[in-house]
Amino acid sequence: MRLVSLFFLLFFSLYAKSSYEKGKELYNQKACYSCHGHKAEGMHRYPYLANRAKGYLSYKLKRFRAKQADNQQQEMMITFAQDLSDEDIDNLTTFFANYKDDTQKESYDDSFYTEGDGGS
Ligand code: HEC
Repeated sequence: MRLVSLFFLLFFSLYAKSSYEKGKELYNQKACYSCHGHKAEGMHRYPYLANRAKGYLSYKLKRFRAKQADNQQQEMMITFAQDLSDEDIDNLTTFFANYKDDTQKESYDDSFYTEGDGGS
């Protein structure tokens, strides 16, 4: 019996999704990317979330969930934070804080050189 439970423990620890993966799934499922970007890099007036402090981001999400915002711009977030559980927030902020770009290999080199263009 002990061996069986050990087996299950091993099975679940190997196959259970990490907090990071759950956060990533949630981010896509809830379409957070439509404002905060596919790489959590932000766009326009929507802040970037990648590699920012977990504590700060969860503080903000919990405030939005409690329908608190400091300005009209932030009020937009209240709707999106409404149905997040504490666990969701924990997973999301783990994902943000530890964000790694796994599409890097396929991205363009978009560095922009201005040399040779002087005066034209
Ligand atoms: C319709 C656009 C929109 C969507 C969708 C959206 N957000 Fe936001 N988010 C905002 C805006 C606007 C702010 C506030 C920017 C400001 O402080 O001026 C914000 C702020 C935040 C902040 C606080 C960042 C900071 O710098 O204070 C977090 C964390 C966040 N959003 C997470 C999420 C998550 C998680 C989701 C998906 C469940 C999501 N957002 C979906 C627009 C959006």
